[in-house]
Amino acid sequence: MLSPNMEKALNEQIKWEFYSAYLYLSMASYFESISLAGFAQWMKAQAVEESIHAMKFYNFVHERGGRVELQGIDQPPTSWESPLDVIEFGLRHEQEVTKKINNLAELAQQEKDHATYIFLQWFITEQVEEEDSFGSLVERIKLVEQAPGGLFMIDRELAQRTIDFTNLATEANRT
Ligand code: FEO
Repeated sequence: MLSPNMEKALNEQIKWEFYSAYLYLSMASYFESISLAGFAQWMKAQAVEESIHAMKFYNFVHERGGRVELQGIDQPPTSWESPLDVIEFGLRHEQEVTKKINNLAELAQQEKDHATYIFLQWFITEQVEEEDSFGSLVERIKLVEQAPGGLFMIDRELAQRTIDFTNLATEANRT
């Protein structure tokens, strides 16, 4: 059984995961508007992954006898100054999400909620990967800043990121 405090905090995190999906879809749309289809594809895949994160929390709350009460999601930004500006924004956002996940883990420890603490380990590991993928993309964009065509090379590569809905659906149900 979840404590009221833990249930409230997990509900809050569901909102943040869906906000992340919204933010990355907004970034995808920005990239479509400047004809960087590979960046757009990468962001769309990222948005789907965030919805899966939200669903993992959703399923977990119900498995623990809690109740999900969806909250309002803020409008994300819709425009940025450059591709680098977008990815740096994404990196800062992931750093904020990491703090939120760490706060949840601390709360679980305070509440002696071992099941939630163990559940959160997946997200703690995932955040290392999330920060790393945005961080290395920032570095790569900076490297090609002076090289015409460099951005298009990265764009072609990012276009390879596919969305595997079958695996993701399985992943969403795994808590
Ligand atoms: Fe759900 Fe990108 O963290």
